[in-house]
Amino acid sequence: MMELSPRLSMIEALIDGTARCFGDVGTDHAHLPISCIQHGRCQTAIASDINPGPLARAEQNIRVHGLSKQIELRLCPGLSGYKAGECDWTAICGMGGHLICDILGVALQAGTVAIGQSFVISPHTNEEQVRRFLYENGFRVLRENACEDAGHIYLGIACVYDGVVREITDVDAMVGRSNILPACYYANLLRKARKRLSGLASGSKPDCGEAAFLHDVIRKVESL
Ligand SMILES: C[S@@+](CC[C@H](N)C(=O)[O-])C[C@H]1O[C@@H](n2cnc3c(N)ncnc32)[C@H](O)[C@@H]1O
Repeated sequence: MMELSPRLSMIEALIDGTARCFGDVGTDHAHLPISCIQHGRCQTAIASDINPGPLARAEQNIRVHGLSKQIELRLCPGLSGYKAGECDWTAICGMGGHLICDILGVALQAGTVAIGQSFVISPHTNEEQVRRFLYENGFRVLRENACEDAGHIYLGIACVYDGVVREITDVDAMVGRSNILPACYYANLLRKARKRLSGLASGSKPDCGEAAFLHDVIRKVESL
């Protein structure tokens, strides 16, 4: 059986039910689709990557686990090699927030995202940008989770595309709307906000707008 890292386990657990087809964009080692098949979270999977090297690694791992018939490999950027609705769940994980928003934005423009299609997303940076993108581009957040893995805090977001545009405040984009994330997630947010505040205070021209925002973030986290 595939042994997932704490980060990938947290991400896998955000998928509910059994997907007919699970897509993993930027699969690299294909650990996630292999484990999803083994745990019955999907019947078939597509493991795709923009680079041939990671895809060769994925192919090797899929072969070792005897899943070459269930997991198809595709060399393509983002969702460009997928048909709309081809996967009922799609993962876009382990990339920066800008890149994840870019991949989803391009897919929306190209019409390769269908109403009712679910996603599990895990940005390594710019989480606030990703939350804002999802709210403002028709994705309904189903649930979020977070975990600590090798000294880093990782966020996972499960969402479904329903095409409804929503609003989100800057503070909610930073903190999230659920108040049930693990304590390590909020402790990390507080640490980063306080560090940035002390950086601003020691600068020659403190940005009062940013300082006020950071105080709002701290107040919101402390109120949870
Ligand atoms: C750090 S790995 C993450 C692997 C896996 N998703 C995870 O979370 O463990 C990022 C992978 O994304 C791939 N990648 C980067 N940009 C991409 C894009 N635009 N479309 C598809 N894959 C991409 C890279 O080649 C690399 O294999």
